[in-house]
Amino acid sequence: MSAPTAPLPVRAVLVTGAARRLGREISLQFARAGWDVLAHYRHAEAEAQALQADVERLGRRCHLLRADLAQPEAACGLLRQASTLHGAPPHCIVNNASIFEADDARSASAAGLMQHFATNCATPLLLANALAGLLAAGGQPSGGRHSVVHVLDQKVHNLNPDYFSYTVSKLALAQSVALQAQALAPWVRVCGLSPGLMYLSGPQTQDNFERASRVNLLREPLDPAQVARCVVFIAETPALSGTTLQADNGQHLVPLARDVMFAVDEGLTR
Ligand SMILES: NC(=O)c1ccc[n+]([C@@H]2O[C@H](COP(=O)([O-])OP(=O)(O)OC[C@H]3O[C@@H](n4cnc5c(N)ncnc54)[C@H](OP(=O)(O)O)[C@@H]3O)[C@@H](O)[C@H]2O)c1
Repeated sequence: MSAPTAPLPVRAVLVTGAARRLGREISLQFARAGWDVLAHYRHAEAEAQALQADVERLGRRCHLLRADLAQPEAACGLLRQASTLHGAPPHCIVNNASIFEADDARSASAAGLMQHFATNCATPLLLANALAGLLAAGGQPSGGRHSVVHVLDQKVHNLNPDYFSYTVSKLALAQSVALQAQALAPWVRVCGLSPGLMYLSGPQTQDNFERASRVNLLREPLDPAQVARCVVFIAETPALSGTTLQADNGQHLVPLARDVMFAVDEGLTR
């Protein structure tokens, strides 16, 4: 009789900006797939506690971690804290937290560019680097069980000049996906996930959002749960490395001269 094999440890995911909107949806999809959740938040403490209760109702563990990710040096501390709480480095990091502030080429400031770059690009890259560092220090590569998913935006595949600093920060992150997958192999797979419009943001009204959310090939609003399912799919599919999934109802194939929230009001979507 062969000796019984030890069960694999429960996998854990660190999701940044987990308390609300897409971060919450991603956290719940991982919990439904049997993962424990390390849920990062910054200000949304009550929403983070509600997420924790919902994950625990699904039978999974959920730890809450607070950090300001506009300080990229916070990245290593956050990962260390997450690893201590879980008892090992997380099997996946989802870099979901981001800032999205309106500007254009004329109004973009050095401070705004740097703030978008820090939160939306430098911190995600450093978190991924730190995970690979921890794993390389700890032993053997895991055959693709560890991954990082950088949440991007369909905008990086479908440019227009609005939200200039935000778009620059996401373009830099998008261009880093293949480079970082090469740099961190074989310890960590790195992939991108580009959603389309899912939630009302910035100055949008509900009426504007309802029209804008149908400007895609399906002419239907994008379901954030499907975007979240794609993130879990990346985390659970070792064959994927250095690539980006576009989960946007085909929005990236509908070119517009302006951001969709402005285009629908200016008659640019016909
Ligand atoms: N919304 C859309 O329709 C859309 C479309 C395409 C792509 N995306 C991308 O999808 C992801 C999620 O979008 P979303 O609209 O759900 O995001 P969101 O609500 O704008 O932001 C997610 C979270 O990011 C956290 N955050 C922001 N700045 C932070 C900082 N300095 N330190 C720590 N946390 C910080 C906030 O946490 P607290 O609330 O706890 O402070 C916030 O709840 C983003 O990467 C976004 O670029 C979104």
